[in-house]
Amino acid sequence: MSFAAPEEYRDGELLIRSLRPGDGAELNRATVASYEHLREFMEWARPDTTVEDSEGYVRLSQARWLAGEEWGLGVWRGERLVAGCGFMLRGQPLEHGTVEIGMWVRADEAGRGLGTRVLRALVDWADADWPIHKLTWQCDSRNLASARIAQKCGFQLEGRLREHVPGVAGGRRTTLLFGLVRSDPRPWRSGP
Ligand SMILES: CC(C)(COP(=O)(O)OP(=O)(O)OC[C@H]1O[C@@H](n2cnc3c(N)ncnc32)[C@H](O)[C@@H]1OP(=O)(O)O)[C@@H](O)C(=O)NCCC(=O)NCCS
Repeated sequence: MSFAAPEEYRDGELLIRSLRPGDGAELNRATVASYEHLREFMEWARPDTTVEDSEGYVRLSQARWLAGEEWGLGVWRGERLVAGCGFMLRGQPLEHGTVEIGMWVRADEAGRGLGTRVLRALVDWADADWPIHKLTWQCDSRNLASARIAQKCGFQLEGRLREHVPGVAGGRRTTLLFGLVRSDPRPWRSGP
């Protein structure tokens, strides 16, 4: 499918846009400062990631974007990167219309409703501008904040995969699978 992905989406003062060359320094600041917050559930988190590593990542992310493989996004409040997220195909062609969302929130921004707000914005954006029928969300069964935001955004629990993959801190991870299809309610849109 030839699909020119939209580059950005605005939600008030937040700008959700593709990660691009030049974003590495701010991505590095955000992720290294968030290491303790991210390490339990994000296997890529490291305390000693360099700016060069982060710049390499955003360049790879841009290459994947252009190849239509994966759409890596940053959430910006002005010049500050407050969260990272993305639409991921996970081996399926886009024609199948099922895309997984991943997300992390900067440590000093977490627990204040930002993750919920960004996930709702991604659903709104997917509905409006992307050829997506179904959004999925996966998390470690111990990741209560992650499961909670999926449920707050209308995702339904569809599966619990016991001891499914290696856990970030060793052992095996039980994975919760959530899904949201086009006909599911978007409760945050129903105003008074
Ligand atoms: C998971 C994450 C994206 C959520 O973003 P956030 O901005 O912290 O989330 P919000 O503040 O919007 O909402 C968190 C919800 O989880 C709840 N929550 C948080 N910790 C919880 C816990 N230990 N037990 C139960 N509920 C919990 C909060 O109370 C809140 O729900 P409420 O609004 O009904 O009170 C963020 O915390 C994060 O980056 N975590 C580390 C990386 C990660 O795990 N990413 C997801 C991988 S699947």
